Amino acid sequence: MPDLEAILLVGGQGTRLRPLTLGTPKPLLPTAGVPFLAHQLARARSFGVRHIVFATSYKASMFEPVFGDGSAFGLTLEYMTEETPLGTGGAIRNAAQALGSAPDAPVLVLNGDILSGHDIGDQVRTHVERQAAVTLHLTEVEDPTRFGCVPTDPSGRVTAFLEKTPNPVTNRINAGCYVFTRSVIDSIPEGEVVSVERQTFPGLIEAGELVLGYADRTYWLDVGTPAAFVRGSSDLVLGHLASPALPGATGEYLALEGARVSPAAKVEGGTTVGARSVVEPGASVVGSVLGDDCVIMSGASVTDSVVGDGARISAGAVLRDAVIGEGAVVGSGNELQAGVRVWPGVELPECAVRFTSDV
Ligand code: GTP
Repeated sequence: MPDLEAILLVGGQGTRLRPLTLGTPKPLLPTAGVPFLAHQLARARSFGVRHIVFATSYKASMFEPVFGDGSAFGLTLEYMTEETPLGTGGAIRNAAQALGSAPDAPVLVLNGDILSGHDIGDQVRTHVERQAAVTLHLTEVEDPTRFGCVPTDPSGRVTAFLEKTPNPVTNRINAGCYVFTRSVIDSIPEGEVVSVERQTFPGLIEAGELVLGYADRTYWLDVGTPAAFVRGSSDLVLGHLASPALPGATGEYLALEGARVSPAAKVEGGTTVGARSVVEPGASVVGSVLGDDCVIMSGASVTDSVVGDGARISAGAVLRDAVIGEGAVVGSGNELQAGVRVWPGVELPECAVRFTSDV
């Protein structure tokens, strides 16, 4: 098969991950020690992709300084920016101007916030063999009521794109990785806001085109929420999903350059300790992402949380499922749980926030 080209959708605002995404777009957030996209780029490359076009919009200028022309990753990278966001379909159409593929060639399209262990090569082969217009990766989730679902017939043909409903007909959902036949991308209207999920795919089904489902049950995670983001990072560090981009061995934690973890601290569950960060004796950090230059003081407990660069968690503070913005200070005795977010630079005085379930 000739080299495969890909489009990476990275223009979303990542609203669910605020305040982390106020200064950094979601695909660049440090995940298991490297920008999130580095994992996707490495996986795409391992399946023979060599040319990737980034479809950028939100904070578009931040991508090229990180990934450059791609040569450091064994890839050729290009950047296509929408002046105003064009939605997923409009973004794919805009980025396709930089592709060299022939009209009948397959083009891989990836959402820039998905971790997936599925066999991209097999998805592409299936697409080509069945001569589909689009082949969608479908994953199975336990609770499909939170997603739109995608039923297929016994031959794998997608029969509908259904919105969220309390009684879904299948637990298969769109997993955010598509193979398009190039000419199908060219049929998306140019310069218009278009959603592939709401317009392009239902339109193709309506027109009788073959939209194929490629279903599997390998590792899959949409890192769009803080809880999912910390889980994705931890899973990579623990080795639950292999990534060629992991900057170290898999294990209970990953310590980046200059990090100091006291042997008398408990650090586990796939935690990343950012560069020059300090975890003091008696502190506990489990399944979390610590940015660079953080301090976790003695007796502090951080679980399933994100701590931004330069933040300080004081002695005895307890964090669970919390997001602490860059440079924030959590004073001792605070207890932050259940999705609490502390905005960058905020200083929480001692014992300012307690969590209690008995009111
Ligand atoms: P939320 O705001 O938290 O929902 O996140 P998001 O902005 O990333 O939206 P969503 O998860 O629905 O987006 C799916 C993928 O498409 C992500 O990889 C986004 O970066 C990307 N995306 C969404 N809208 C656009 C757009 O208008 N332009 C481009 N280039 N990419 C987009």
